[in-house]
Amino acid sequence: MSRVRGAPCRACLALSAALAALLLLPLPRLPGPAPNTPAPGLPAATPGLPSIYLRPDDVFIAVKTTRKNHGPRLGLLLRTWISRARQQTFIFTDGDDPELRLQGGNHLINTNCSAVHTRQALCCKMSVEYDKFIESGRKWFCHVDDDNYVNPGVLMQLLSSFSPSQDVYLGRPSLDHPIEATERVPGGGTVTTVKFWFATGGAGFCLSRGLALKMSPWAGLGSFMSTAERVRLPDDCTVGYIVEGLLGAHLMRSSLFHSHLENLSRLPAHRVLQQVTLSYGGPENPYNVVNVAGTFSLQQDPTRFKSVHCLLYPETDWCPTQKQG
Ligand SMILES: *[C@@H]1O[C@H](CO)[C@@H](O)[C@H](O)[C@H]1NC(C)=O
Ligand SMILES: *[C@@H]1O[C@H](CO)[C@@H](O)[C@H](O)[C@H]1NC(C)=O
Repeated sequence: MSRVRGAPCRACLALSAALAALLLLPLPRLPGPAPNTPAPGLPAATPGLPSIYLRPDDVFIAVKTTRKNHGPRLGLLLRTWISRARQQTFIFTDGDDPELRLQGGNHLINTNCSAVHTRQALCCKMSVEYDKFIESGRKWFCHVDDDNYVNPGVLMQLLSSFSPSQDVYLGRPSLDHPIEATERVPGGGTVTTVKFWFATGGAGFCLSRGLALKMSPWAGLGSFMSTAERVRLPDDCTVGYIVEGLLGAHLMRSSLFHSHLENLSRLPAHRVLQQVTLSYGGPENPYNVVNVAGTFSLQQDPTRFKSVHCLLYPETDWCPTQKQG
């Protein structure tokens, strides 16, 4: 969660994101959910299937949470989208919870990071997410927060249009300009300025395995935290720094990822079910939710995630039964 902003970068983002939403209209965007198109670079799989056929266990979705959010907030995700993406999803938290352990098994990871909402604690979790992904051998890493709804079908479709061996960093920039950071080179006294784009963590972002492996000198085995210290930036900005600033790869913008920093009611109702991620404003901004029809009222479903889920999966046992005819 990035709602509390102790860190300098995120603090400026909340404001800039609102501005960006207004100013940033004609961004070069990726196509929406496209039919599986074979991407170059990977061998064709089974004849008759699209050559890039992603299986659920090709994808690693890391959900970042904290002990105090295990109740209603994570519970909502477990009952909704995570129930449709169990194989892909891993929950990264900071405290033991025997009940959640029973449900999550080895897909629940206690990072042992501090539960405080500081840059260091957030970077500690990202560092564990990264290491677990590398260890998993999977093709795609996606990070989301515990206030995101992920549409697993659309996510799989989007990822299957790229090759995991290429440099892919996908997400939504939260600024309309690259961020500028001061880089302190360890040991030397040199201070340089570096400019780069990054995908806002609150909307979720994805990295291909190919790119993630190249990041390892700055992200692997705990080094993510010292890299973040070098530029004094939060977790999501640090990912952008490594990808763009250090490796010279580029963020691919996608308008299919959404964070609570956007005005979510602007998303046209007929597009809501075609997005990769959604979010909601939360207690400080309860009216910032997606516009979705459905049988649950705002009171019954303040985040709109239940309504979205029942439109996507009407056969779910707790969804209102569909009228016949
Ligand atoms: C957190 O600590 C527990 C107990 O020492 C350990 O089993 C677990 O592997 C640690 N988690 C990580 C991600 O290192
Ligand atoms: C969000 O967008 C809606 C529709 O355009 C508008 O009515 C509302 O005032 C906006 N809210 C904020 C906080 O900008």
